[in-house]
Amino acid sequence: MSQDIPTGARGRRGPFRPGDKVQLTDAKGRLSTIVLAEGKIYHTHRGTLAHDELIDAPEGSVVRTNSGVEYLALRPLLSDYALSMPRGAAVIYPKDAAQIITMADIFPGARVVEAGAGSGALTLSLLRAIGDHGSLLSVERREDFADIARGNVEDFFSGPHPAWELTLGDLAEVLPARAAPGSVDRIVLDMLAPWENLDACAEALAPGGVLLAYVATATQLSRMAEDLKADGRFTEPDAWESMVRGWHLEGLAVRPQHRMVGHTGFLLTTRRMAPGVTAPIRRRRPAPGAHAEPSPTFEEADLSADLGERHVSQKKLRRLRKEQARRAAARTSNQQADPPASRKGSVEERGTDEPGADRPD
Ligand SMILES: C[S@@+](CC[C@H](N)C(=O)[O-])C[C@H]1O[C@@H](n2cnc3c(N)ncnc32)[C@H](O)[C@@H]1O
Repeated sequence: MSQDIPTGARGRRGPFRPGDKVQLTDAKGRLSTIVLAEGKIYHTHRGTLAHDELIDAPEGSVVRTNSGVEYLALRPLLSDYALSMPRGAAVIYPKDAAQIITMADIFPGARVVEAGAGSGALTLSLLRAIGDHGSLLSVERREDFADIARGNVEDFFSGPHPAWELTLGDLAEVLPARAAPGSVDRIVLDMLAPWENLDACAEALAPGGVLLAYVATATQLSRMAEDLKADGRFTEPDAWESMVRGWHLEGLAVRPQHRMVGHTGFLLTTRRMAPGVTAPIRRRRPAPGAHAEPSPTFEEADLSADLGERHVSQKKLRRLRKEQARRAAARTSNQQADPPASRKGSVEERGTDEPGADRPD
């Protein structure tokens, strides 16, 4: 780190310089990224572009190939980089990385542990958030993935980050050896079986420290939540998912985009209690059958309360059914007297609206 320029900030502003990554976008929105070098030529199937055209030009310039094709030139943002960098393991998407930074309260100077490092996408956001004076220990048990993560991080920050350490191994073994008890502020787990590390996390976390798990399926989420509650050293977990829907902006045709990423993963957070203290029991009567011991079938498990069903008396049900029969009889006699012309008209007016159909805008 230089005295006043934080790691990763040097290549983020000012005119383009040799060594900068530049994202080129053509008129159809297609992206390609080049690393600027004096005298070099970028070859596209629609002509050639001299890197020297870009060197010293301001960000946001438009350059042309020798055949006149235009490209908009900008430095890639962290989110652009994370989605286009080489991947071994699946990466955490920018929408989830953003949630993780805020909801796990990753602060400048924080001591953070992450596992597994995978391709290093979340690592980039964590390092950005803790800055040069924090510390991030990333643990990855696969050497090939660890190599990819290191390559991506060093490529993004144009060299090693002073706050980062990447360790090969299993978190449950690495953490007790590398972190003194109660010394870690935040732990982020992105792996298949995060519940296997609860002991190591409880030991390493400082009182009040945040543990965040990112899991892909509801069964993982349930297992993690139940194991945390049974452990007793953590607060009641919170869980959520986020959905981000892009919008199409074209004149007056301003509407949600037809396609979106439907599911990435679930997030769960909990906090470390002070040693020897157990959280007050939350006063909430679970629905009979909500805890699967032994596993009931869905038919056996009474989840009516969780599913928002209310108890309704037999008397009320008889009255409702009588009322429905009366309305059905009234509808039949009305339809015989008056065919539903207005309904036919309304269908023709609206046309088809299949999901995904490209409507004329
Ligand atoms: C989905 S990937 C993580 C992706 C990463 N967060 C990113 O954004 O690029 C899950 C990784 O966890 C690693 N892993 C699974 N269990 C682990 C454990 N107990 N200790 C360390 N790494 C583990 C796997 O090898 C895999 O690379």
